Amino acid sequence: MSEISDLIEAATLARDNAYAPYSKFAVGAAIRAEDGRIYAGANVENAAFPQGQCAEATAIGAMVSAGARRILEMVVLGEGAVLVTPCGGCRQRIREFAGRDVRIHLVAADGAQHSVTIGELLPLAFGPEHLG
Ligand code: THU
Repeated sequence: MSEISDLIEAATLARDNAYAPYSKFAVGAAIRAEDGRIYAGANVENAAFPQGQCAEATAIGAMVSAGARRILEMVVLGEGAVLVTPCGGCRQRIREFAGRDVRIHLVAADGAQHSVTIGELLPLAFGPEHLG
């Protein structure tokens, strides 16, 4: 059993509740936070397209709302064989709560996995430390 099977399960459950009637591209994300808990989320689209929210943002919102502040690792998954990589905006959102070595596991529904760090996804990032 994979060490991230609990995150994959949580992200899958969230993805299955995605609201994506426009793109029909369901995404789930799950965070293991510093409090030891898992926070998951799905993408939530909107008829006013730009108001849609990515799965990563939903998961981060759940984590913060519960009082946690640090991401230890994270899974992002879509459907089928595709590996979903976080969009540019979500890379910045993740970076706010994660040091550069935090691993983001991209998981395909067929089991393929690719793990990268947030530092690889968003090099030379502007982060909270820049504001002192
Ligand atoms: N999406 C995510 O939720 N996360 C990503 O990492 C990439 C894209 C969503 C946004 C939109 O609802 C749909 O996937 C198609 O772009």
